[in-house]
Amino acid sequence: MQRTVISEVLAADAPRQDIKVCGWVRTRRDSKTFTFLELNDGSCLANLQCIIDEGTPAWYVLEGVNTGASVKIEGELVESPGKGQKWEVRAKNMTVFGLADPETFPLQKKRHSDEFLRTIAHLRPRTNKYGAAFRIRSHAALAVHDYFRSQGFFYVHTPILTGSDCEGAGEMFRVTTLPVDYRPKEGSDPFAEDFFGKAASLTVSGQLEGEAMATALGKIYTFGPTFRAENSNTPRHAAEFWMIEPEVAFADIWDNMELGEGLIRHAARHTLENCEADLALFDKFVAPGLVDSLRQLVDRDFVRVSYRDAVDILQKSGRKFEYPVSFGTDLQTEHERFLTEEHFKAPVTVYDYPKDIKAFYMRLNDDGETVAAMDLLVPRIGELIGGSQREERLDVLEARIGELGQKIEDYWWYLDLRRFGSVPHSGFGMGFERLIMLLTGIANIRDVLPFPRTTGSLEF
Ligand code: 4AD
Ligand code: MG
Repeated sequence: MQRTVISEVLAADAPRQDIKVCGWVRTRRDSKTFTFLELNDGSCLANLQCIIDEGTPAWYVLEGVNTGASVKIEGELVESPGKGQKWEVRAKNMTVFGLADPETFPLQKKRHSDEFLRTIAHLRPRTNKYGAAFRIRSHAALAVHDYFRSQGFFYVHTPILTGSDCEGAGEMFRVTTLPVDYRPKEGSDPFAEDFFGKAASLTVSGQLEGEAMATALGKIYTFGPTFRAENSNTPRHAAEFWMIEPEVAFADIWDNMELGEGLIRHAARHTLENCEADLALFDKFVAPGLVDSLRQLVDRDFVRVSYRDAVDILQKSGRKFEYPVSFGTDLQTEHERFLTEEHFKAPVTVYDYPKDIKAFYMRLNDDGETVAAMDLLVPRIGELIGGSQREERLDVLEARIGELGQKIEDYWWYLDLRRFGSVPHSGFGMGFERLIMLLTGIANIRDVLPFPRTTGSLEF
């Protein structure tokens, strides 16, 4: 079925005698001697206006063709005398693929709430807003690959089924083939009879395997699905999300910051260059000032501040936070947003966190109290990137694992990377959905995932 996609049709530089377009009817307007159909095929935000004159073959099959119906239209591409569009199609023939009953098709013309649209996640990509969001998502994914390729990184695939808890936060989804009513024999390993002969989960991060790859290929990144059984019902957490994790050998925390800042800049620039019309929609209806804020991301310097100084700023802010801050407490979203939105009014990287609130693999600083951790915070979202320089010293790492009450044997292969040709190295994780929230101004993570998975929600 040869067709021209609407994005191409609308970019035409000359009229065309024969054109074939397919799509879904967004609106139908009838007058005495002709009918207007606004057609959208998802290739771009704009609709293509099609005119069906009385007496043409297309006119005889118009019965029941309403908002939501899918059709093919063949006709002539002519300059539009009307306002608002350069081109229109004067239809000759039309094929109706599928009707959409106006009594039951939920996407009628009026604007729907995000909450309602989440209940019809299978249809919402057909709205302007969600179509735009998912086109931007696709462009942003390409921007990520493009950035790392330009920096000489290799794209590696780390496992989704895993036997280790990278973050040590116990937020893993268990994977098992044992029957639900399975009871292990008294005193025996409960997973001995399971598929892998040990406990298995969905990955919370590809970092540990990423480190193995980086200490061979030098610069690598992963970009894949990540799972966390976090019971936090927030606009920023999903149970299934996509994470981008670069890992670089011979790199310290400062190199790591630069890499993260560069990635955000590149993604913003790429989106500005490739998604103009879709961004304009968000700028107009969702987050006024969005396009300017993306330009600033590209042009302005990001800020860096140590955790110690950040705590100081928060304490002296005179602001009453729900959670009080002092050295040793983890920063909450309210603190992160204060720093980036109000105090610095720019993206901020906070570094050198107290070791007790960070993961075991982060490199211990000389003060013995902090680790070379970094969190990059952005306005409206808070933490977009979390990363660190890694502990490359075998004895220090073993002591840290011991301190946390973990078994050294469980980490044998990870420790091998410190036994054989250990190198200073660093990496981070960026939540891809949070990047899309930054790029679109969408405030809820449920609205940047095509089919979001959050606590108690798995309809699609
Ligand atoms: O800060 P996190 O937990 O870091 C790690 O997992 C490291 N292993 C990454 C690394 O150093 N290679 O997660 C990294 C990022 C967060 O900054 C956030 O953007 C995103 O992943 N993220 C989530 N996004 C959506 N829903 C969730 N439940 C998320 N949890 C983390
Ligand atoms: Mg984090």
